[in-house]
Amino acid sequence: MKVAIFASGNGSNFEAIAKSTELRNAGLEIEVLICDQPQAHVIKRAEKYHIPVEVVKLSDYDNRGLYEQAIIEKLKPLQIEYILLAGYMRVVTPVLLGEYPNHIINIHPSLLPKFSGLEAIERAFASGDKVTGVTIHYIDEGVDTGPIIKQCQVVRLQNDTEETLEHRIHQTEHQMYRQVILDLLNKNNGDK
Ligand code: GRF
Repeated sequence: MKVAIFASGNGSNFEAIAKSTELRNAGLEIEVLICDQPQAHVIKRAEKYHIPVEVVKLSDYDNRGLYEQAIIEKLKPLQIEYILLAGYMRVVTPVLLGEYPNHIINIHPSLLPKFSGLEAIERAFASGDKVTGVTIHYIDEGVDTGPIIKQCQVVRLQNDTEETLEHRIHQTEHQMYRQVILDLLNKNNGDK
């Protein structure tokens, strides 16, 4: 199954997927990393795993539609089946959604619909909620909306700081994303 991963920053989710031999053995092929930030650390991680990188900057295009069209032109020859968003800091428009309907997946560090949007972990921590978590979902035109594939809870411990809570949320993300992709691969292999 050929995928493109989209990321803008650190890339720990990208690396969790890229380094998984289980996923590779089940048929995952990461054809390209699409990154909108030329300085992002995720680019270094992609190089480590010899995964091709395409840096596509929004500022090089007149509008978001043209920017996404340029990305589509890069994806088409690669026969990408799924797009995995992993810390991609842009709202996807109908241009990309129309090209890959129901085939774009996102990960978000809260129990959606709670704390959608930016700084979800910070806001969940500040709220004092005893339980937060992670959501993986198909995307639609909204911000962090769309059909939910999987949610897992992360319990806030009594002496948690924002950093320790964040650390466990990220660990949960990495495990969950791998599991969701594995399920998708198994389903795809079964369909063929
Ligand atoms: C993750 O918390 C993910 O849920 C959110 O952005 C963050 C990306 O982290 N969408 P990383 O770049 O994968 O380390």
